[in-house]
Amino acid sequence: MSSHSFSPFSLVLLLSLSSCATSVDVPAGYVSSPYYPAPHGGWSPDWTESYRKASLLVSNMTLAEKTNVTSGTGIYMGRCVGNSGSAPRAGFPQLCLQDGPLGVRNSDHNTAFPAGITVGATFDKDLMHARGVAIGEEFRGKGVNVHLGPSVGPLGRRPRGGRNWEGFGADPVLQAFGGSRTVEGIQSVGVIATIKHLIANEQEKYRMYNLAQDGISSNLDDRTLHELYLWPFAEAVRSGVGSVMMAYNAVNGSACSQNSYLINNLLKDELGFQGFVMSDWLAQITGVASALSGLDMTMPGDIHTIPLFGSSYWMYEYSRSVLNGSIPVDRLNDAVTRIVATWFQMGQDSASYPKPNFDSNTLDAEGPLFPGSLFSPKGVVNEFVDVQGNHAVVARDIARDAITLLKNTNDILPLAKTAKLKVFGTDAEKNPDGINSCTDMGCDKGTLGMGWGSGSARYPYVDSPIDGFKSRGANYTFFNTDSFPSNSVPTAGDIAVVFVNADSGENYITVENNPGDRTDSNLNLWHNGDKLIQDVAAKYTDVVVIVHTVGPILLEAWHDLPAVKAVLFAHLPGQEAGESLMQIIFGDVSPSGHLPYTIPKSEDNYPDSLDLIGFELGQPQDTFTEGLYIDYRHFHKANITPRYAFGHGLSYTTFSFSKATITPVTTLTTLPPARAAKGSTMVYSTAIPAAAEAYWPANFPNRIWRYLYSWLEKADADNAAADLKAGKTYPYPTGYSNAQTAGPAAGGAQGGNPALFDVAYTISVTVTNTGKATGRAVAQLYVQYPTDLAVDTPVIQLRDFVKTSALAAGASEVVKLRVTRKDMSVWDTVKQNWVVPSVDGDYGIWVGAASDALALRCGTAAKTCAEGVKSPV
Ligand code: NOJ
Repeated sequence: MSSHSFSPFSLVLLLSLSSCATSVDVPAGYVSSPYYPAPHGGWSPDWTESYRKASLLVSNMTLAEKTNVTSGTGIYMGRCVGNSGSAPRAGFPQLCLQDGPLGVRNSDHNTAFPAGITVGATFDKDLMHARGVAIGEEFRGKGVNVHLGPSVGPLGRRPRGGRNWEGFGADPVLQAFGGSRTVEGIQSVGVIATIKHLIANEQEKYRMYNLAQDGISSNLDDRTLHELYLWPFAEAVRSGVGSVMMAYNAVNGSACSQNSYLINNLLKDELGFQGFVMSDWLAQITGVASALSGLDMTMPGDIHTIPLFGSSYWMYEYSRSVLNGSIPVDRLNDAVTRIVATWFQMGQDSASYPKPNFDSNTLDAEGPLFPGSLFSPKGVVNEFVDVQGNHAVVARDIARDAITLLKNTNDILPLAKTAKLKVFGTDAEKNPDGINSCTDMGCDKGTLGMGWGSGSARYPYVDSPIDGFKSRGANYTFFNTDSFPSNSVPTAGDIAVVFVNADSGENYITVENNPGDRTDSNLNLWHNGDKLIQDVAAKYTDVVVIVHTVGPILLEAWHDLPAVKAVLFAHLPGQEAGESLMQIIFGDVSPSGHLPYTIPKSEDNYPDSLDLIGFELGQPQDTFTEGLYIDYRHFHKANITPRYAFGHGLSYTTFSFSKATITPVTTLTTLPPARAAKGSTMVYSTAIPAAAEAYWPANFPNRIWRYLYSWLEKADADNAAADLKAGKTYPYPTGYSNAQTAGPAAGGAQGGNPALFDVAYTISVTVTNTGKATGRAVAQLYVQYPTDLAVDTPVIQLRDFVKTSALAAGASEVVKLRVTRKDMSVWDTVKQNWVVPSVDGDYGIWVGAASDALALRCGTAAKTCAEGVKSPV
């Protein structure tokens, strides 16, 4: 039963007021300006029909039905990690929301796909899409309505950040392609994708608001926000993503879940987002303020402080807040319409859309239907539906094509099939305690296929590297230890293969003293991996190092040892660690992965602002003083040579990039052409409904203890209506208005002003395999802004990439890349628009195999291309 007799209304008001004000701890100059009202959805032509259908349902809903749809029914109150309230009378079902970005979490008979960072390392847009389709099929097959992925935030600003591996790499454009291709794939099979976490959630520790302390504030300027962190979200919105999850942290002192600048301004107006905005789990900290700020759905529904007593900031409180006039009906109508329209947009109204057939709370066939309640009815909760299809194939292809060859002295790789191998390291074999023995992968035992936390999925199996060696009939001896074994005696011709790893994850689990972020391990290998490699290299003359890692690690302790001949990053391969690796090390396929981040020589290579933020009295402050200069942008500016540059990755063959041409497509102007006006949106009555619309139905059977309901006792509802009549008003935040606006100049369609995506230039390049083996190249395109600009810009920035097909020795392929207007613009904080800083200036468009391997330059002034040019970095 909901505890609506306990009225947190005053608490809600208090919190609303305190959190509307910017925290006193935020440094001067970092502001989240108020932006009201929440823009209506439905004006984009791509969504017209879905909104029309939605409005028919919504206009038939009672107040309590509408507020029910906007909230989760409580933590552990249903089969999925999030379960929204339904409006069955009006024809709208409960929605199942489920993690996570690499597969169906806490389930069975699902694929554990390679993690986002691994997909990023493929630099293969087709594989990004194919994985999205496969993931979508699995979520649909399990009856999930809303997939809680992909993750493009954190961006990877902070190398030790715990959840960077869920996303695609430390560059906004790589994240953007990873995110948007995944969204398109997932939604192509009718599952609603959720792009998360908006925004700047760059470290795990202190991310959440709790009774004792406000969540960490990421303080960043408008230009950095636009040019780095928002970029991938813009692309996902452009791809029509159905849902956006707000981050736990604050931005410039205002909690993301109720930050009107982020939700109303950036997301719903500037980016023209048409779907619905949800909170992260227990990230909502107020009722009215979050609704006014544009939040459409709260998850899992409970208040954030003590989530176990059936209390909510919304549900019955939302009903009350509409009746007493605090939240305009118009706002509620828009929130519900956005949710219902998204469901129609994906075709989930079809009778063939499966109902949930699994339970993320238990692996048993039968169990409580509402495990969060002490007295729950029981029933069948797991039907063990096998959704794997042939997805192991795409998972394996990704795991293989992500493998990044960093070093290969004397072409020690590929290995001969008969090579005599001594294999070291526990990372080569499955977790001896069982592949799923640690909840949410909260341990680092055995082959590391994924990080830990809500972004994990249970393995159906793990094809370990040792399984791979076995099934190849390789000649190997395995030492399943992380300390050099005294019984390992080198014999002539031995090749040592050492497996090491580095893990990280989400903050609610601490693994080996790392509370999500790599606080304790730093950027070092885990389990004394450095020492194992050094000890092996002291005894063996030919050593190959295989690394499974969540992100950058330091290689300096052993990289240059003469015995260390090869280094391979296999990233986080998911279930397919074995055969994918065998295909590379035995040379069936040439490696074609590239680094989705820079590998430094020392942590001192990074600016101090990228250190993890430790305990601070009051709200922890994380000020992004490095601005645009993260990862390679920083290394270039500071003129630091990393150990390995962003985009680096060798092959068993070599490639040349030649015969480039540059073709102007759209003539640029300083500002993009004016946007079109918004289309019309749904019109509903704005009259405050009768209190009776929120009354508990007469004779409601069996209220579930602590389940969240949207009804009010009659007296509560009547009192709310009486408060309104008595003229009591809500203390609206500064700048509050109810009048819809035309929207900013930078908006105009999903993703922003569509002219931003006009192609300014196409570049065509011939990629030739100049070596002896078959292989795939990645052509990476970086833009260098004219060097005489008044505005400071990074030396080069990735703007596009393409992976060739498998090219036989001597074969060529002509690849096409493009540069858009946005790619050549900077965000002008005064004009609040994307501005091409020099329309006739000479932009250098560089194409090559890595950020530090650029020798082909096309210039936009002369519109010619040249080879053998000195690299800009
Ligand atoms: C918190 C995580 O930040 C988010 O990514 C996840 O989807 C939710 N928990 C639900 O598990």
